[in-house]
Amino acid sequence: MPAPDLMAAELTLTGRITTASNATFLGSIGDVEVVYKPIAGESPLWDFPHGTLAQREVAAYLVSQAFGWDIVPRTWLRDGPLGEGMVQLWKEQDPSQRAVNLLATNDIPKTGWKRVLEGQDESGQMVALVHEDSPALRRMAVFDTVVNNADRKGDHILAMTDGHRHGVDHGLTFHQDHKLRTVLWGWLGDPLSAGELEGIGRVNDGLQGELGQDLAALLTAEEIASLAVRCERLRLAGRFPAPSGEMSAVPWPLF
Ligand SMILES: Nc1ncnc2c1ncn2[C@@H]1O[C@H](COP(=O)(O)OP(=O)(O)OP(=O)(O)O)[C@@H](O)[C@H]1O
Ligand SMILES: [Mg+2]
Repeated sequence: MPAPDLMAAELTLTGRITTASNATFLGSIGDVEVVYKPIAGESPLWDFPHGTLAQREVAAYLVSQAFGWDIVPRTWLRDGPLGEGMVQLWKEQDPSQRAVNLLATNDIPKTGWKRVLEGQDESGQMVALVHEDSPALRRMAVFDTVVNNADRKGDHILAMTDGHRHGVDHGLTFHQDHKLRTVLWGWLGDPLSAGELEGIGRVNDGLQGELGQDLAALLTAEEIASLAVRCERLRLAGRFPAPSGEMSAVPWPLF
C-alpha cells in the first residue's frame, strides 16, 4: 500500500483521550495512527492567547527538528472532522518502561535515577519524584528550557522500547515570559555537554533562516525574539538552569 498523503488524505476519528483537558482524539490517516487536537476544542487559559495551542505544538516540532534529536513526533496543521487542528504521529509506548516515577524512597535504585522532590504519601511513607539519568532525558530538558515548556508532566514523556524518549503535549510553550514548569530538574546547575551546546547552536542558527521563517507563521515576533534570547542565555550559561521566579517550577498534577 502506498504511504497516505498525511496532509490531504481523509482523517478518521477512532477514539478520544478522555483524561485530556482539551479535546484530544485518536485518529487514522490511511494506516497511519495519529493524535488530533482541533483548535475548536482548546479550552481557554488565562496566560496563553486562545486558539493558539495547535500552532505552538507545531512550532515545538520544528524546533525539535532543528535540535536534531527526534524529541517531538512529527506534528503538522491540517483540516480534520472537527476543523483545523494539530495532528501528530502516534508513538506506541513500551508499558514496561517509565522515564519518570513516584517511588518509596527506600525503593529508589542507587544509580541511574535523579531525585526531584520528596514528600509523604497518604500513609506517611516517604516518597520521591524521580526521573532517569539518561542522555535522551537530558536533551529533553534542554529542549524544554529553549521552548519554555510550561507543562512537562511525567505522562508527557513517552518511553519507547529501544530506550528512546519522545516528548508530547507542547501546547503550553513559547510564551514570552518565563514559564518553565517541568519534572526534569535532576541536572540543575550541571554543565551542558558539547553535543547539547551544539544542538542549541543549531536552533539559534536556524532562527536566522528557514526555521525563523516557518516559526513566523506560528508565533508572534516577540515570542520568536524571546526564543532567541533563551538560546543565547543557555549557551552562555553553559549549564542546566535552576528554577526562577514566583511560579511553581513543577507542573500540577505531576503526571
Ligand atoms: N503522539 C503520541 N503518541 C503516543 N501517545 C501520545 C501521543 N500524544 C499524546 N499521547 C498520550 O496521550 C496523553 C494525552 O495527550 P496530551 O497530553 O497531548 O493531551 P492533552 O489534551 O494535553 O491532555 P491533558 O490535559 O491530559 O494533558 C499523553 O499523556 C500520552 O500518554
Ligand atoms: Mg497532556
